[in-house]
Parts: sequence; C-alpha cells; structure tokens
Amino acid sequence: MSYNVAVLAGDHIGPEVMAEAIKVLDAVASAEGFSLNYSKALIGGAAIDATGGPLPQETLELCRESGAVFLGSVGGPEWDHLPPEKRPEVGGLLATRKALELYANLRPVKLYPQLASGCPLKERTDGKTVDILTVRELTGGVYFGEPKALSDEEGLDTMVYRAHEVDRILEAGFAAAKNRSGRVCSVDKANVLRSSMLWRQRAEAMGKAHPEVELSHMYVDNAAMQLILDPSQFDVIVTGNLFGDILSDESAALAGSLGMLPSASLGSSVHLFEPSGGSAPDIAGKGVANPLAQILSGAMMLEHSFGEVNAAKRIYDAVEKAIADGLRTGDIAGPGEDTVGTVAMGDAVAERL
Ligand code: IPM
Ligand code: MN
Repeated sequence: MSYNVAVLAGDHIGPEVMAEAIKVLDAVASAEGFSLNYSKALIGGAAIDATGGPLPQETLELCRESGAVFLGSVGGPEWDHLPPEKRPEVGGLLATRKALELYANLRPVKLYPQLASGCPLKERTDGKTVDILTVRELTGGVYFGEPKALSDEEGLDTMVYRAHEVDRILEAGFAAAKNRSGRVCSVDKANVLRSSMLWRQRAEAMGKAHPEVELSHMYVDNAAMQLILDPSQFDVIVTGNLFGDILSDESAALAGSLGMLPSASLGSSVHLFEPSGGSAPDIAGKGVANPLAQILSGAMMLEHSFGEVNAAKRIYDAVEKAIADGLRTGDIAGPGEDTVGTVAMGDAVAERL
C-alpha cells in the first residue's frame, strides 16, 4: 500500500520539525509494510518569497489531489507588514483551511506522567490525569465572518455562526466523545453573544438527540479558569474557532508545552495535519525545537486519513517511551534536566518504534 502526502513544511522551525516527522513516518511505514510518497509544495512566507503569494495555485491543487496534507508552520516577523490577505497566516493557512473545508480541528492534549513535575499545575493534577480533546470549529466564526475591514480608524471583524456549521462541529465532538468517556463540554459565550446563543440552542438540541452523551455547557471565561483550577474535569471540549484557538493553547501548557500538541483538521475530503503551535522564529535554525507535535500530527494522519491504526499506535507509544527514557527538548525539560535537540529527539522516537 502506498499513500500520497502533500508536504507543506512552511517557515522557520517548520522544515526542521517536518524532517524529523518524516523520518519517523518512514521508519514506521517500512516496519508496517506500507509506503508514503511525499510531494513538497510551498506555503506561507516561503511561498511569498518564491512566488509573491502565500498560497500558490499549484499548492492547493496538490493538496486536493493528495491523500492527506502534512503541514509544518507558517508566519514570521518578515511578513508581518503585509496586508492580512497576503500574510502567511491569513492568506496561506486560513485560506487553505477554508478552501479544503477543514471545519473540524481535533487537538488532543495528554499529560505524560513523567512530565507531571513540569506541569505548572502539578499540585492540582497530582494523581489525576489531564487528557482533553479540544474539538475546535475551524472554518467559521470571527476568523471568517464578513464584513471585515481595516483602516486607520477602525478594525472590523464579524462573529457569525450558521446552524449547519454549528451542527457539524457538534456532531464531530459527539462522535469523538463516543470513543472516549462520553462526556462533552460545549463552550460558548451565550450570556452575551448572539452567535453563542444560537450555538447553545443547537447544542441543547443535539444533546437531546444523543442521550448517550453527557453534555454540559460552560461560558468561555469560566472554561479558561476551570482548565487551570481542575483540568481533569474535562474530556471533550467542543467550541468555536476563536475560543478553541485560545483554550487549546492553554490546555497545551497544562501538558508542559505547546510543542507537544498535534492536531488533525478534518473536512469532507482531504484532511490536514499540523502542530498547533506556530513557527517559533525565535528558536528557528538552532536545532532545538521540539519535533513531537509534528511527529504526533503524523501519527494522527496515519490514523485518520489512511486507517493505519497500528502504525499510529506505534508512534504514540514510541513518543511515550522516549519521554519515559528521559529525553527532553528545552521546552519540556525540568530544572537541571539534560536536553536534546530536534534531530536527537526525532532519532530517539524512530529508534523506539
Ligand atoms: C493555530 C494558529 C493559527 C490560528 C494562526 C497561525 C493563524 O494559532 O493553528 O492555532 O489562529 O488558527
Ligand atoms: Mn493558535
């Protein structure tokens, strides 16, 4: 069996962590008896520098023809002066999510026991696990609502959710919960925002139609606090685009580092897999970035796009072993712990497959 993967490494640490993920994917593929064909394409700042725009037509075409899209990260200070639609983030990444209709973004976060001492909340998580799946709506809400405008006097964004957009992300959250503990917390701001009032109505209706799922609702400000006070109360969080962006970074910090947080963006045809963190220009080129989020995103790709569940599990287990064996990049190292670089961490995972 052979699978076609569009590889968009992007900017700054993107290519560094991508190389490690491909190393691990190739190792697991040969062990499991399948192969991956990679086709590289440009996105983000790299695409701007080479072609003038953040999302060349060829890149989008390659994505559409591929079995999955594997993305590194985009953006950096070099391109921050550009107007929004020409920037790596908006014109590259968001445009790709929209074009491929990747509406369901899964961001799983797990506190590995060996990293618990590095968890900023260790007194509260002692003996309890943090194992949260944020299901973030990814192609709607304030990120995409029209009208939008920017002048010297006014910045305008529109937060809008339509019933069908809310229903399909709730369905994704409910479906995920059935494979976990069966609990879903729908996060909104329904005490103030109309878009959230609709969200809550749809969630209540969905909850009635699925009595097997235990549904709760929480306002986003409270959810931000509850994640700090008692993270183990959460299993699946389903929420809108902006709230999910914020809460998923917060939940990643609970597990030690954003460098550990993978993601799967699922749509109706091709899916995309990318770390939840950014391109980290401050540490790019130093060989110190944590490749685990990229590696774990690769495992999610094997699982969700190619049905290679065993291979994915081998990667999850190898990452756990590498951590148990004490391998730490700078972002997850405790005081006095030795650190390894990007390549050594990639090698360590590949050796433990
Ligand atoms: C993320 C990132 C992106 C987002 C940025 C880079 C546009 O923060 O994937 O969480 O806001 O969605
Ligand atoms: Mn983010």
